[in-house]
Amino acid sequence: MFIAADWRGHGVGTALVEAAIEWAKARELHKLTLSVLPHNRAAVGLYRKLGFIEEGRHPKHIRRANGELWDLIDMGLPL
Ligand SMILES: CC(C)(COP(=O)(O)OP(=O)(O)OC[C@H]1O[C@@H](n2cnc3c(N)ncnc32)[C@H](O)[C@@H]1OP(=O)(O)O)[C@@H](O)C(=O)NCCC(=O)NCCS
Repeated sequence: MFIAADWRGHGVGTALVEAAIEWAKARELHKLTLSVLPHNRAAVGLYRKLGFIEEGRHPKHIRRANGELWDLIDMGLPL
């Protein structure tokens, strides 16, 4: 998910994730999961606000072009 920079902070991300939750509930899915970089405060804040909780962490999971190794966290929302 990527909101155009000028539109961030105006509720678009909330609306999109809420729509995904409603879409999943309507199809009787039992759970939504996602992965996010732990330092991405905006994204982690959005997902926490909508009920996702951290379920696990993958240390040094992502290798960046500059060689840095970044952790990744998994978050889940039972429906
Ligand atoms: C993360 C992203 C999708 C959020 O979308 P958005 O439309 O800006 O989010 P919203 O306006 O709906 O904000 C929802 C919540 O996110 C959190 N949030 C948003 N921007 C934040 C920021 N700069 N710092 C901390 N929390 C923030 C808050 O909890 C906010 O709830 P609140 O407004 O009730 O406080 C958007 O910033 C984005 O596209 N970022 C770049 C791409 C990216 O990181 N995608 C996610 C990859 S996992």
